[in-house]
Amino acid sequence: MKEKLESLMGKVQNPLSHRSITTDKLFVTIEDGAKPVVVLRAAADKKWQAAIESQIKNLAAKEDISADAFTFRWAEAASDQDRAARATHAPVSRPQRSIPGVKHVVAIGSGKGGVGKSTISVNLASTLQQMGKKVGLMDADIYGPSIGKMVGLNGRQQMDVQNDHIIPKEKFGLKVMSFAFMLEEDQPVVWRGPMLGKAVQQFLYDTEWGELDYLLIDLPPGTGDTQLSLAQLVQTDGAVIVTTPQNVALLDAGRAAAMFDKVNIPVLGVVENMSEFICGHCGKPSHIFSRGGGSRLAAQTKTVLMGQVPLVEDCLAAAEKGEIPVYQNKNEKIQPVVDAFEHIAKNLISKLDSL
Ligand SMILES: Nc1ncnc2c1ncn2[C@@H]1O[C@H](COP(=O)(O)OP(=O)(O)OP(=O)(O)O)[C@@H](O)[C@H]1O
Ligand SMILES: [Mg+2]
Repeated sequence: MKEKLESLMGKVQNPLSHRSITTDKLFVTIEDGAKPVVVLRAAADKKWQAAIESQIKNLAAKEDISADAFTFRWAEAASDQDRAARATHAPVSRPQRSIPGVKHVVAIGSGKGGVGKSTISVNLASTLQQMGKKVGLMDADIYGPSIGKMVGLNGRQQMDVQNDHIIPKEKFGLKVMSFAFMLEEDQPVVWRGPMLGKAVQQFLYDTEWGELDYLLIDLPPGTGDTQLSLAQLVQTDGAVIVTTPQNVALLDAGRAAAMFDKVNIPVLGVVENMSEFICGHCGKPSHIFSRGGGSRLAAQTKTVLMGQVPLVEDCLAAAEKGEIPVYQNKNEKIQPVVDAFEHIAKNLISKLDSL
C-alpha cells in the first residue's frame, strides 16, 4: 500500500502553483505501518491542507484504497528563524552567476517592517528611470507584495509561452515583477523554503528583463529565506539598508547589516526614511522621531548615508492611489521627497561606478 500511495503523490496538485506536490517538494514521505502515514509539509492555511487531503483521498478511492486505511501528518518546516540562524553559522560563498543584460543588481533591505523599503525601492527606481537609466524593479516580498499597488499595476503578468519566460509589467518604462502578479488577490501564501528559492530564481532568470542598468530588489523585512536565496542565486552589487531615525529601528537595521555581511552581500549605504515630518499645512519640518539614526548606522556599518527622505503626507496619499510620488511634479509639497531621491540616486550611481 505504501508504494501505491507513493505513486499517487505525483498526481496531487498544489492548488496554488498548479504543479504536483512532489515537484513543489510538499510531499515528504510515507511512513509505513498498519496504517500508513502520508507526511506533507504543513502550511499556515488549514483550508489549503484540507483541499490537498481530499484530493489524495479521492485519488486513493480510485485505486480502491479506503480513506480510513491511511492518515496524514503535516510536518512543520524549520522556522525562518532557525534557517536564518543556520545561515549565520554557515557563511555563504558569493555566486558567480549574473543575469544576462543586467549591469547592476541592488537589494533594498531592512531588519524591521514598515520603515519604507518599498517606498524607497519604487521611488529610487523611478528616479533612476527619469535620469535616463534602464531600470527593473523586483518585488521579492512574498508575504506582503506591495510594489504592484504602489505603482498602480495589477493583474497577472504575461508569459512568453514559446520561450517559457515571464514578461514583466511596465510603468513609465520601469519594468516591474512582483509575487502579487502570480497570486490571486487575498490568496494565502503557502510557499515554503525550497519553493521560495525556486520562485526567486525564476524572477531573476526567467523574467525578460532585457538590457538593464539597474535591477532593484525590494526585500521582505527581516533576515529570512528570501535574503538567503538571493545571496545564493545571484551576484548582487550590494544592499541599501533602510532605517528610520529612532533607536529601535536602528537596532534592527544593524541586524540586517550583519546578516548581509554574513551572506557576503556588501552594504552600499544607508537611507534614512521619515527623517523629519514636513507639515502638509505650513510646510515646516519637525523631528517627530529622534535625529541622526541614519548617520549612526552608516558609521556603524562603515558605509555612507546616501540620503534622508522626509515624511510627507501627500507622498502617502499618492502611494495609496498607486501614483508614484516622484512623478507628481506638479505637487510642490512632494518636492522635498523628489530632491531626496535625486540625491540618493546620484549617490548610488557613483557608489556603483566606484566598485
Ligand atoms: N517618506 C514617506 N512619506 C510618507 N509616507 C511614507 C514614507 N515612507 C513610507 N511611507 C508610507 O509608510 C507605509 C509603509 O511604507 P512601505 O510599505 O514602503 O514600508 P516597507 O518597509 O516596505 O514595509 P514592509 O516591511 O511591510 O514591506 C506606506 O503606507 C508608505 O506609503
Ligand atoms: Mg515592503
